[in-house]
Amino acid sequence: MVKKDIIAAAYAALEHAYAPYSQFRVGACVVTKDNRLFVGTNVENVSYGLSCCAERNALFAGISAGVKKGEFCMLAVVSEKKQAPAPCGACRQVMCELMDPNAQIIMVGAEEEYSMTVRDLLPFAFDEEDMQ
Ligand code: THU
Repeated sequence: MVKKDIIAAAYAALEHAYAPYSQFRVGACVVTKDNRLFVGTNVENVSYGLSCCAERNALFAGISAGVKKGEFCMLAVVSEKKQAPAPCGACRQVMCELMDPNAQIIMVGAEEEYSMTVRDLLPFAFDEEDMQ
């Protein structure tokens, strides 16, 4: 799957954002090793803490469709603002749980783009090993 197609799918999902409180629209698209795409957008709630980010909604859509842990290999998260959106801590933890540690997270804004692995986005993560 070509990176620009994943970014385009994330921007298409952003159009469906439900962000009446922040007015900050975010789109995400995650791809599996066998080239399946899942999109998500941020969905807010008047009880603000119930809001869910685009990245988690995309990953949960994939899991809901049958994708297994570790099969996600790339995720793009996009915003209309100049700056590229940095995933929140909760999303980083969910990425660590569900994605290959070497999967690429591509962050795209109108004027900048970054790419980092899941491992580099959340160093020293709490994981299953900590539970042994
Ligand atoms: N948000 C995302 O969806 N992803 C990010 O990476 C950053 C933040 C959402 C959550 C909330 O709906 C709005 O952006 C403002 O925080």
